[in-house]
Amino acid sequence: MPRKAIPWPELFAAAADARANAYAPYSKFEVGAAVYLQGGEIAAGCNVENASYGLSVCAERNAIACGIARCGRRKLLAVAIVTDTPEPSPPCGVCRQVMAEFAKPDLPVRCRNVEGKERRFTLGRLLPHAFSSRYL
Ligand code: THU
Repeated sequence: MPRKAIPWPELFAAAADARANAYAPYSKFEVGAAVYLQGGEIAAGCNVENASYGLSVCAERNAIACGIARCGRRKLLAVAIVTDTPEPSPPCGVCRQVMAEFAKPDLPVRCRNVEGKERRFTLGRLLPHAFSSRYL
């Protein structure tokens, strides 16, 4: 069966919308992320910081959690990330590992800055040799 095309414009729009809700008073680094789910749904998240800095949660993990909580979907088919940086920011290592829990290594991850400059990765390139349940 041919795979449905990934709706990148909608994904990036959802990531940019979520970014507008970022709570980043400490770092001032606002991030929006959106995930495309197996059922065709899109879920989005922003980073949410805390005065106890280490409790801050990244946009990517909040988008994944949103997909599970609101759509009941865990399988990730694509990820879009938006930041206001000269270079589009790739996801942090923790978020890569969380993506690996719910996606295959060919998961496309695209990062854009607000000017539209884009970088494209796969999860396998971002996180080779991910830890997984098969090592438990
Ligand atoms: N952040 C993300 O939301 N995603 C990443 O992949 C990297 C970092 C957030 C966490 C924190 O709120 C701020 O950016 C600075 O690290």
